Amino acid sequence: MALLVSSWSNGVQSVPKDYVMPPERRPRDFVSVCDEIPVIDLQENPKADRSDIIQQILKACQEFGLFQVINHGVSEKMMEDMRVLYHEFFNMSVDDKLGVYTESFGKGCSLYTSGLNYAKEDVHYWKDTLKHPCHPLEEHTPSWPEKPTRYREDVGRYALEVRKMGFKILDLIGEGLGLNKGYFNGVSQEQAMAINHYPPCPDPSLAMGIGGHTDPNLITFLQQDQYGLQMHKDGKWMGIDPIPNAFVVNIGYQLEIISNGKLKSVEHRGVTNSTTARTSIVTFFGPNPGLPVVVEPAKELVTSTNPQMFKSYQYNNFIVDYMAYVRKPLPRSGTPLDPYRL
Ligand code: OGA
Ligand code: NI
Repeated sequence: MALLVSSWSNGVQSVPKDYVMPPERRPRDFVSVCDEIPVIDLQENPKADRSDIIQQILKACQEFGLFQVINHGVSEKMMEDMRVLYHEFFNMSVDDKLGVYTESFGKGCSLYTSGLNYAKEDVHYWKDTLKHPCHPLEEHTPSWPEKPTRYREDVGRYALEVRKMGFKILDLIGEGLGLNKGYFNGVSQEQAMAINHYPPCPDPSLAMGIGGHTDPNLITFLQQDQYGLQMHKDGKWMGIDPIPNAFVVNIGYQLEIISNGKLKSVEHRGVTNSTTARTSIVTFFGPNPGLPVVVEPAKELVTSTNPQMFKSYQYNNFIVDYMAYVRKPLPRSGTPLDPYRL
């Protein structure tokens, strides 16, 4: 438990040496917040606007692999309740956190620190994460934290609202791509949450919150109220402005593959700051890694002029390969998509 950054970093004057990133992995470049990242308003508008919204989303997924949504249907009160709840959670005593603590990232519900494998890292990330599956709720809530006492009820309600929003957005994407209605039902059965907590860091120029990565799943929805998230585009890192009560939506590897390369997954990372703790509340949708779900470019998108770009494969095998890739020491060559290209 002493490993959790949130349990030892309060008042620390300098970054301990096993958290000092080698120079090439530091957030050293000057990064400005990018005002070109699309902000999409999902407000129910007259019917005529649906195709306009679809075009905006598709363009954002092609050019950036990432966008923000506002008026998405998840209530502001519920989003605020989540921020308050997780503030309380990460400020609880060590004893209260013990029930869900694990030495490293594991199956089911776990509270762990740094990256996916603390023991094997040469240098650690300035982050603690609570993560757990969310769907179906009845199956998973018994493994969730018991404290704060309202945790299971409130997070359960939030997970259902985010699920509704998620499928609404997936339907818009599917329609834009020309896929059959309900295409994503079969490949987004898994819903999981990760709550990343980045305590204030005495020198943010030396440490990293979460290193550059691309999400292995289908699509990700992130709630944030502090700056820290950055995306990589055209050889540069750029910052994503935290818009109150918006969700940041990013494309994962599976959606890039299903769209036969039309939509781009995006590399992103998180930096720390010296004054305020930052907590991001992240929901992942994707195939269930416990089932033999086949993923492949949608047949509708493969034509003689648009040949199939990726193999057909089982998602659980992809995840095994992805985990092996991210656990390799840096610098790594290639990307986890390479073995799946045709
Ligand atoms: C993630 C992620 C970024 C953040 O959990 O996959 O990219 O800002 N998080 O916490
Ligand atoms: Ni991510």
